[in-house]
Amino acid sequence: MSSVDTRTFFDIMGTAPAAVTVVSTIEVGGTPRGMTVAAVSSVSADPPSLLISVDHRSRTLPDLLHAGRFAVNFLRGDRSDVSRRFASSVEDRFEGVEWRPGSTGMPILHADSLAWAECRVSQRIDAGDHIILIADVVAGSPPPPLTRPLMYFRHHYEAWPGQVEDGRPGPVTPPIAGSSDGAVIDLARVTPAKLDRV
Ligand SMILES: Cc1cc2nc3c(=O)[nH]c(=O)nc-3n(C[C@H](O)[C@H](O)[C@H](O)COP(=O)(O)O)c2cc1C
Repeated sequence: MSSVDTRTFFDIMGTAPAAVTVVSTIEVGGTPRGMTVAAVSSVSADPPSLLISVDHRSRTLPDLLHAGRFAVNFLRGDRSDVSRRFASSVEDRFEGVEWRPGSTGMPILHADSLAWAECRVSQRIDAGDHIILIADVVAGSPPPPLTRPLMYFRHHYEAWPGQVEDGRPGPVTPPIAGSSDGAVIDLARVTPAKLDRV
C-alpha cells in the first residue's frame, strides 16, 4: 500500500496544534528521566485514562516500561527552552530543572508546568515505529486560572494566544459562533455528529 512521505505526513499532522509535555519517570536507581512528548491524548473518562505515543528508539522508553508509571507535565506557554532541553542529547536533562516527586513518586516539573497527570500504564500497543502506552490517571493537578500552555504548531512553538479563563463547571468558553442559543458548549462532550448541528 502506498503512503505519503514522512515530510508530508509531518506537515499534515503539524496542522493540529498540540500541547507540549515532558513525560517523566524514575529509573531503577531512583534517577529522574524524561522526554518531550506532544503525542498525548485523552482516552477515557471512566476510568480516567490517557495515551502517549513513544518512538521505539527512545532511550527513556525502557524506563517507562520498567516503571510502568509516568507523569505527563503540561508545559507553560513560555517554556520552549524546557521542551528543547528534554528533546536534546543533554546527558542530565533534569540538571537545573526544578522538580519534586508527585504523590506516586513520579517527577513533577512544578515550576515549568501548569498541569500534570500521574499515570499507571494499563496497556501497551505496538504501532509502527512507536509504542502507544495507555495509562490510568491516578493523581494530578489541573491548571490555575489564566495560565496558558505551550503549543507546537507547524513546526514552531507558540504560547496559546489570548487569556484563557476557566469555564468550570465543564464548558469551554467562549460560545461557538452560530450556536442556536448562544449557550456555552462543552466540546469534550460533543460528538462529531452533534458538532455538525452547533
Ligand atoms: C515538540 C516536540 C514533540 C515531541 N513529541 C514526541 C512524541 O510525541 N513522541 C516521541 O517519541 N518523541 C517526541 N519528540 C522527540 C523526543 O522528545 C526526542 O526524540 C528525545 O530526544 C527523546 O529522548 P530519549 O531518546 O532520551 O527518550 C518530540 C520532540 C519535540 C521537540
